[in-house]
Amino acid sequence: MMDIDAILEQMRPRLDTHGLDSRIIRSHLGDCPWRVYLFSEVDSTNTRLKEMAKVGSPAGTVLVADRQTGGRGRLGRSFLSPGGVGVYLSALIRPDCAPTALMHLTCAVAVAMCDAVENAFGFRPGIKWTNDLVSRGRKLAGILTELVTQPGQTAAIVGIGINCCQQLPDFDPEIRDFAGSLSMISGTDVDRARVAAAMVKALYRMDETLLSGKDAMLEAYRRDCVTLGKEVALLRDGEIRRGYAWGIGSDGALLVSFPDGHTEAVQSGEVSVRGLYGYL
Ligand code: BTN
Repeated sequence: MMDIDAILEQMRPRLDTHGLDSRIIRSHLGDCPWRVYLFSEVDSTNTRLKEMAKVGSPAGTVLVADRQTGGRGRLGRSFLSPGGVGVYLSALIRPDCAPTALMHLTCAVAVAMCDAVENAFGFRPGIKWTNDLVSRGRKLAGILTELVTQPGQTAAIVGIGINCCQQLPDFDPEIRDFAGSLSMISGTDVDRARVAAAMVKALYRMDETLLSGKDAMLEAYRRDCVTLGKEVALLRDGEIRRGYAWGIGSDGALLVSFPDGHTEAVQSGEVSVRGLYGYL
């Protein structure tokens, strides 16, 4: 198994980072003590950070990439991660609890990312359950949280990919109808270093209150969640079922009632949720 330095050396920026600059990221971090490593290109910041977690990287290690060649999304999907336009970021946390006490982690990351965007741009995105940041009906960011199994310790990788500088023609045709960027929504040029720093600071604050502030976080999640109060289509194993999404459980499950009157707590990782009239 490689040690931490060998993993970092493999990813050292050899190529252009399209102006994304680690010194500028650091200059915006204030007193946040987390360590940020910037790379021009990696396969997946989540995959790399998982390797580093396994060989003992400390909590608060953050990897940021200008682009990813093998970006990963939920449900085994790939996540397109072109250079110069987005921030692809993974952070390692080591909460003092059993992995089973972290069912709400993805919700906490989503609320933290809404905070980060609001702090940096003055508008608050919504959350499409469970892990997409959306605004004006378009997806701005996706979140992939992964647990790392280590004896006697809980470690988690929280990975976020956020669209920053794209305009509509920059998106691949297959996602153009429902993808958006911070620049499109704010109508301004976007400094990715500032976005990355805002994300790191929000994740640091999230980590501090992850266990003690769960109830308040879930209240914020329920306010931000645009899926609530909507008819939804649940896609699982090729089967589509329609229901009404009315709540979020204490573990982050989506509470859905069905036409026959029964209710189910739908766990993320199991299903894909769509509105009946489009992406939301
Ligand atoms: C999704 O939309 O399904 C989740 C996308 C998560 C993408 C981020 S980009 C940084 C980190 N590295 C990855 O490979 N995935 C996450």
